[in-house]
Amino acid sequence: MKVGIIGQGYVGLTIAAFASEYFKVIGFDNNRKIVDQLNLGKSHIEGVESSALQKRIREGAYRATFLGQDLSEVDIVVIAVPTPLSNDRKPDLAFIEAACRTIGENIKKSVLVINESTSFPGTLRNFIKPAIEKYSTLNFGHLYAISPERVDPGRGDFTQRNTPRLFAGLTPEAATKTREFYSKFCDNLIEVSSPEVAEAAKLFENTFRQVNIALVNEFAQIAHSLGISVYETLDAANTKPYGFMKFSPSAGVGGHCIPVDPTYLAVVAEERGVPATFIRRANEVNLEMSKYVVDRVQADNQDSLKGKSVLVIGVAYKPNIADVRETAASLIIRHLRDRGAVVSWHDEVVGTWNSESSVPLKGADIAVVVTKHDSVDPADIIASAPYIFDTTGTLKGVQGL
Ligand SMILES: NC(=O)c1ccc[n+]([C@@H]2O[C@H](COP(=O)([O-])OP(=O)(O)OC[C@H]3O[C@@H](n4cnc5c(N)ncnc54)[C@H](O)[C@@H]3O)[C@@H](O)[C@H]2O)c1
Repeated sequence: MKVGIIGQGYVGLTIAAFASEYFKVIGFDNNRKIVDQLNLGKSHIEGVESSALQKRIREGAYRATFLGQDLSEVDIVVIAVPTPLSNDRKPDLAFIEAACRTIGENIKKSVLVINESTSFPGTLRNFIKPAIEKYSTLNFGHLYAISPERVDPGRGDFTQRNTPRLFAGLTPEAATKTREFYSKFCDNLIEVSSPEVAEAAKLFENTFRQVNIALVNEFAQIAHSLGISVYETLDAANTKPYGFMKFSPSAGVGGHCIPVDPTYLAVVAEERGVPATFIRRANEVNLEMSKYVVDRVQADNQDSLKGKSVLVIGVAYKPNIADVRETAASLIIRHLRDRGAVVSWHDEVVGTWNSESSVPLKGADIAVVVTKHDSVDPADIIASAPYIFDTTGTLKGVQGL
């Protein structure tokens, strides 16, 4: 069996790494630089080791390509391309449409098409299938299924193998073949009754996180105004053995999923006349956290940041990965600069970002910790500035803070 995976980013390459243990995998990406790197055995994704990639390449089980015609022989094709928001914050399915075009124009036999990209309910049935048919010259159809991806990049305890995976087919045959495919490298497959349920479940999972993060971020502000520790209060609440799940305050949410997916749900809700006020407000609360953080830093520093050197520590959106998409650090830096601060940042995992480079961890008037990578020594953070504002909660109790 040959498997084509369209998109070799966080999701697609991770799937490729697991699937190529059992299938011949062709990783298709329209970014030629990524393709060239992958064929040299260099992984750009945390959690996919270059050594493992090189082994698969040597075994003939994996290769990357930017040529659509290389997909012509595959039996299964997985779509793993971005699903961002457009400038007017609406679902942008342009990448999915392009993937459908690649499939339609290049695959000349009936295959199983599985979508792993996150999108709103109805995408598989009403967008992907018609789009592939539009670009295809075949007079017979493909099988269609959805299996929303749950990968948490950089995480070691939950992998493709032990993270339960939802799936559904547009037909029973598609569902059966989808189960056969994933069962090779996933131990817990859960079939749901329709693709729309699987698509909605994925959106709801991330909306649940966004709303709860917003709630705890609001609570952090309430706790501060009451003069009590938000961390101690959350730990106290967390002693309840049922009906409570602890979320931690932060500078806001980032990444490709939490700030984006809930808006996909809100848009389809509103199109159907259901107000998504709760989801919308959660997004706003999380975005406003960056201003709240900078307000607190300013208040603690003689109410002025003008001319002060501020070091932002950790610009990735979460620990131990280099992903800066939608990172809260971006808004924090903007607020700091708007108030006249001289801002630099330290993040050796990210290295360079927005044409700026990571600077050494020292010599600032003020340090704001946005993301704490495991590789960063807390003692070095403490020594980097006389005043440190930690938004991560990971430095509490460290001597010198
Ligand atoms: N990153 C995550 O943690 C995560 C988790 C679950 C679900 N998802 C979802 O999975 C999907 C992919 O996300 P990602 O994080 O892997 O994105 P990514 O940006 O890391 O990777 C996407 C890749 O697709 C390529 N690409 C774009 N258009 C293409 C096309 N037309 N043909 C071929 N390649 C193309 C890009 O060059 C890129 O390498 C999104 O819908 C996302 O919401 C992501």
